[in-house]
Amino acid sequence: MKHAAVIGIGSYLPERRLTNQDLEGMVETSDEWITTRTGIRERRLAEIDQATSDLATEAGRRAMADAGIEANDLDLLVVGTSSPDMIFPSTACITQANLGLTCPAYDVMAACTSFIFALQNATAAIESGRARTVMVIGADALTRHVDFSDRGTCILFGDGAGAFILQASDEPGVLGIELGSDGKGGDVLKIPAGGSALPATVERVEAGLHYVQMAGNEVFKFAVRVIPKATEAALAASGMAVSDLTWLVPHQANQRILNTVAERLGVPDERVVSNIELTGNTSAASIPLAVDDLYTNGSLHPGDVLALVGFGAGLTWGAAVVRWTKEVQ
Ligand code: COA
Repeated sequence: MKHAAVIGIGSYLPERRLTNQDLEGMVETSDEWITTRTGIRERRLAEIDQATSDLATEAGRRAMADAGIEANDLDLLVVGTSSPDMIFPSTACITQANLGLTCPAYDVMAACTSFIFALQNATAAIESGRARTVMVIGADALTRHVDFSDRGTCILFGDGAGAFILQASDEPGVLGIELGSDGKGGDVLKIPAGGSALPATVERVEAGLHYVQMAGNEVFKFAVRVIPKATEAALAASGMAVSDLTWLVPHQANQRILNTVAERLGVPDERVVSNIELTGNTSAASIPLAVDDLYTNGSLHPGDVLALVGFGAGLTWGAAVVRWTKEVQ
């Protein structure tokens, strides 16, 4: 059986910054509260004329350049997102056209865990021999669904995109993936309107039902419970232990969540990747963005073992253990 290995990576953050000081002028909050409770100092917002596919396209272009591949080399594009440009066509199809690809393209929707679910699809396609080269993009413009008068949510989210190119290899790259869902927990994090249950109407929009609703405390407790479990399960499936990890890359949702899971897993703080201070929670983009930061900083080396761990609405969670095989540029 062939393995799936990462041969290229790229990411994109929009230019527009929204700082905690900016938020102080919008809702009753303070830089001090946001920094202490979340670790976030600023986040990026997509420009008014930028949709999720535009973020995905730029990250995809950068990953293709990094891998040194052409449009025709790709056999599949999977985009993980929960802020698609529109209900259909899929964001993957729009991105496919933007990049001049000819391969099949589809979206995977698992909220902030979308990148890990999409990675599973890509890995399975390669391992089964159905595809040789696959692009996986995590992209979200979740701030489009945030109520900027709700201080409980508007401080958290930012926009961005990150992409991996995976290719069939004799050398193991993606070692093990563990996914989970608990649909009974759907109420703690949701966007109630805009779908088939509550289609858009003036009344629903006026009631703000098209915005993110979140029970922050519940999500926090869920995250610190599932991240260690998923990480340990994916490590076990890979024949590895926590002590084998070079980098733990959790979904960037809250610095206090990162600190708590690091402590529970026994991973030293310096092995836990964090860029939340400058990005906020970029949903499906957060994990590939954090890995790309490591890569561009020169902190990733062939043989390094990474655990990529996501969680989000659904509820969903997922962890992937990846052996880095690509040389630093
Ligand atoms: N600025 C100032 N005060 C705020 C505030 C803000 N932005 N948001 C909430 N508060 C207030 C609350 O009203 C509450 O006041 P009260 O004690 O007078 O009622 C107080 O701060 C504490 O609120 P609480 O919700 O208990 O804070 P918290 O420590 O749980 O932090 C979150 C809130 C949202 C930062 C935190 O729960 C969290 O990060 N949860 C996970 C969310 C997440 O990861 N979501 C995405 C998943 S993919």
